Amino acid sequence: MSDIRYGLEGKVVVVTGGSRGIGLETARRLVEERAKVVICARKQEGLDAAVADLGAGNVTAVAAHVAKPDQVEALFKAVMDRHGRIDVLINNVGMNIMTGAVVDTDPGLWNKIIDTNLTGTFLCSRRAAQEMRRQKAGKIVTVSSVAGRRAAPAMGVYGIAKAAMEMLTKVLAAELASDNIQVNAVAPAMVKTDFSKPFWGNPALHDELVKKIPLGRLAESIDVVHPILFLAGRASDYITGQTLVVDGGATVV
Ligand SMILES: NC(=O)c1ccc[n+]([C@@H]2O[C@H](COP(=O)([O-])OP(=O)(O)OC[C@H]3O[C@@H](n4cnc5c(N)ncnc54)[C@H](OP(=O)(O)O)[C@@H]3O)[C@@H](O)[C@H]2O)c1
Repeated sequence: MSDIRYGLEGKVVVVTGGSRGIGLETARRLVEERAKVVICARKQEGLDAAVADLGAGNVTAVAAHVAKPDQVEALFKAVMDRHGRIDVLINNVGMNIMTGAVVDTDPGLWNKIIDTNLTGTFLCSRRAAQEMRRQKAGKIVTVSSVAGRRAAPAMGVYGIAKAAMEMLTKVLAAELASDNIQVNAVAPAMVKTDFSKPFWGNPALHDELVKKIPLGRLAESIDVVHPILFLAGRASDYITGQTLVVDGGATVV
């Protein structure tokens, strides 16, 4: 258990994609903070395993695909029925399917990547903001990627979606500021989760990647969770519309 605290005790926090990876680690720290946590993912078995892993704590799991408006509506209805408010939304869901050049990408694949990353973030933020506006308080934190800041090979559509998510963060921040809602994002470089295992799981590639990181190692999920929780808590009340890069210094050299 970490001794760092973010003042989230009793807060209702929705973590999308909370069944594994960065989302699951975020939920774990929120349980330690004694927050009321709602996680979502598409697969019920992953959610069941996550709830068992998180152990005793105020955790609710709801199966929902974030890019499907009816399922997003059902997710937020479940949050409101159970808790009557929503203090923090963490838009953590993200996916990538390796594409070739963007101009060679099948439009169906383009839609799938844009839908899950960008439209899902829009739909969840929209629904959470409706409640937060009534409350005159709230925090939205979105997980972007450094892939949204440079044209990485085979990750073009994903990078375009992440860049748009950072712009969505700025637009929502400007639109929701007068309702006392802060909207921010984090942009990690590679994090050691299942999502990126094809890269860091290859020892030669792993060593090549680490050489480019001033802090000398790849990120673990917890390295991203702390910045997320900082942006979810009161310590960041005067920060909005920003994306915090979490990359061990990789993009400064
Ligand atoms: N890992 C990295 O190297 C890295 C680097 C930079 C940024 N990121 C970003 O960090 C975030 C988390 O990544 P991660 O590595 O923790 O991913 P992960 O290990 O693949 O976990 C993804 C989570 O999202 C859920 N999910 C996927 N599609 C969904 C959908 N359409 N609706 C609802 N839930 C969905 C998954 O559960 P189901 O499969 O059951 O739906 C799972 O819980 C993503 O936004 C990713 O882009 C990751």
